[in-house]
Amino acid sequence: MGIIVCMADLLPEQLERLAHEGHEVRLPKPAADSLIAFVADADALICMLTHSIGKREFDASPGLKVVANVAVGYENIDVSAAKTRGIIVTNTPDVLTEATADHAFALLLAAARRVPEADRCVRSHDFPSWGLQQPLMGIDVGGKNLGIVGMGRIGAAVARRGHHGFGMPIFYHSRTRKPELERELHAQFLPLGELLATSDFVSVHVPATSETQHLFDAAAFAQMKPTAILVNVARGAIVDEGALVHALRNHTIAGAGLDVFEHEPLIHPGLLELQERVVLSPHLGSATAETRTRMGEMAIDNVLAVLAGLPALTPVNSG
Ligand code: NAP
Ligand code: GLV
Ligand code: GLV
Repeated sequence: MGIIVCMADLLPEQLERLAHEGHEVRLPKPAADSLIAFVADADALICMLTHSIGKREFDASPGLKVVANVAVGYENIDVSAAKTRGIIVTNTPDVLTEATADHAFALLLAAARRVPEADRCVRSHDFPSWGLQQPLMGIDVGGKNLGIVGMGRIGAAVARRGHHGFGMPIFYHSRTRKPELERELHAQFLPLGELLATSDFVSVHVPATSETQHLFDAAAFAQMKPTAILVNVARGAIVDEGALVHALRNHTIAGAGLDVFEHEPLIHPGLLELQERVVLSPHLGSATAETRTRMGEMAIDNVLAVLAGLPALTPVNSG
């Protein structure tokens, strides 16, 4: 039986499931700024995207077999260092795809129709009189061009919403072509520059890697339409936040719906000042009770499999 160090706030019944299998579950205090003291004799580690796991932790934990990240993104884990030591890293794909795509669309609609601004107006008893010229004028979504950057699981789910729900022509840029999605959604592959120039809404779904770092910089914003809205539910590091603030201030682009930030939980002060067509949420992409529960279950399934000597369900490396 193994020792499982669990840094994620799993539900009591989920922790019970681990214990029920005969494992010892340790719950280090979240205030601990270093895992080192807790992982010495660990067989498994369950962690979240806010935990940075690398050589230091692996060196301190010679018996570690599996690191289960309760997230689909895993740039917080040094996967190649894990591989060198034969440690399997797992993530939580698929179970969060629909919830995250819903959130991307919620931000897209909220920015286009200025929902948070409208809510603030009503609450401050500032109800603009109904008129053809509206201070809270929005932008049509239906039939507008939707550009997906990163046509993976979540990118495709956002594209389906745009195509089936809103009659939006779909354009995409991704590492590899997706012929099936091109047929299903009449999606058109474009080089990034052309996608930016064509799209009314640009939704970002690439992972955070050295290649995607600041993919959206001043030059990218300059290629976008001045009426365009950027949606980012992927990772903050993909967008140069300073350049985005500049682009929004100067009306290089019209708005943004952002769920992720470069230096979470810190937000660029310029973003906080911008109100018009700028909608911010605190990394809530997968935050529905059902989805977060499934993510916890998937991390547990991975840990239990590896500790039982079985293959992991969703490895991101081969250990
Ligand atoms: P995925 O299925 O792996 O999709 C990522 C897509 O990006 C793939 O199609 C991949 O191409 C493409 N890609 C990778 N590098 C690229 C590059 N340099 N240029 C162009 N395209 C590139 O992952 P997913 O499940 O959709 O998740 C995507 C990301 O969303 C995660 O990595 C995570 O950071 C983020 N996320 C955020 C939240 C939230 O709470 N806000 C929730 C879930 C996920 P290939 O198809 O060729 O591999
Ligand atoms: C959340 O951001 C995830 O990567 O699952
Ligand atoms: C608006 O409320 C309308 O009826 O057009």
